[in-house]
Amino acid sequence: MPHFAHARVDLDAITDNARLLREHADGTPLMGVVKADGYGHGMVPAARALAAGGASWLGTALIKEALGLRAAGIDLPLLAWIVPPGEPVGSAIAAGIDLGVSDPALLEVIAGEARRLGRTARVHLKTDTGLNRGGVAFSAWPALVEEAARLQDAGVLRVIGVFSHFACADEPGHPSIGSQLSVFHEALELADKAGLDPEVRHISNSAALLTLPEARFDLVRAGIATYGINPIPGYSVSGLRPAMTLRSRVALTKRVPEGSGVSYGHRYRTDRETTLALIPLGYADGVPRAATNKGPVLLGGRRRTIAGTVCMDQFVVDVGDDAVEAGEYAVLFGDPGEYPGAATAEDWAEVLDTIPYEIVTRVGVRVPREYVGGAPAGRPETPPM
Ligand SMILES: Cc1ncc(COP(=O)(O)O)c(C=O)c1O
Repeated sequence: MPHFAHARVDLDAITDNARLLREHADGTPLMGVVKADGYGHGMVPAARALAAGGASWLGTALIKEALGLRAAGIDLPLLAWIVPPGEPVGSAIAAGIDLGVSDPALLEVIAGEARRLGRTARVHLKTDTGLNRGGVAFSAWPALVEEAARLQDAGVLRVIGVFSHFACADEPGHPSIGSQLSVFHEALELADKAGLDPEVRHISNSAALLTLPEARFDLVRAGIATYGINPIPGYSVSGLRPAMTLRSRVALTKRVPEGSGVSYGHRYRTDRETTLALIPLGYADGVPRAATNKGPVLLGGRRRTIAGTVCMDQFVVDVGDDAVEAGEYAVLFGDPGEYPGAATAEDWAEVLDTIPYEIVTRVGVRVPREYVGGAPAGRPETPPM
């Protein structure tokens, strides 16, 4: 029996999206980004589905995440790019995990751990081309590449990659895009002058993959688009399929009179005698409280709006006189191709003035992921519905 409320994840959609994105990028090798539990879809199943679609690299934010992939037997090249002090750098080196270097001090830590283990560490030097978040500042870049070349010559590490990240790739035409690209080219030249010859130079996320052929270099890092979500508001990407459907059965229905205040604070009041349907998903499950009186829900064949306050574990939908019954499915977001009329994660993001990344990554740990599709060898333990 499927769980009452669950996030259904279509692994074939992830595989097909990866394939489509590779084609879109003219075959440029693809790094599937599976940080944050595969953007909420389940890190290991998502990683396997991406690999089946041709992703030849996987990317995570944290070493802990990359170690989880290795523990699951995934042997693709892996890059973990947020490595604050105190992270298990030695474990990463031992597991053959590539490390993103955003801080010159980290290079020395990595070198020390590599010497201790008698291994050659694999690193990707991250240059800050204007995002002003992670990455080594351009002023510190020449010294960093010199030092990396020295350590490479000493056999302690290998500079596998040089990379960066865009600030505004989701706003095609934004002036920062061109300026970041030219700084990236300068950074690559400096690396070259220092004697480095990285295998992969990479700067593109999903939005850049879709819109900036000149930014593909040797590898593109795609997260959100592989899950079937469009990273660029208003931009249409044909063929991508949303992989996640968040849905729940109706827990109960009841008739209430006109003028009834609904849920905490009575922020919704019925304007006639009506039927209320209770959906057992709340803000603890990733339905933001800000969706109070706003969140779209497909129920009884129609798109409706959450009535009243979203609570920790539940919310209410006013279905009028429609014949909605306990046990029926309500779809919060999913693939409208599969559930006609359903909202998408992008629709939720628009209503809540956020981005769809936040909608899918916030689906809570209490919500079971139920998987459909996927290669038999890559199928996770939860049985498909
Ligand atoms: C460094 C880096 N690369 C790639 C990605 C993937 O971005 P997207 O999900 O927009 O494709 C992210 C995600 O935030 C990132 O931080």
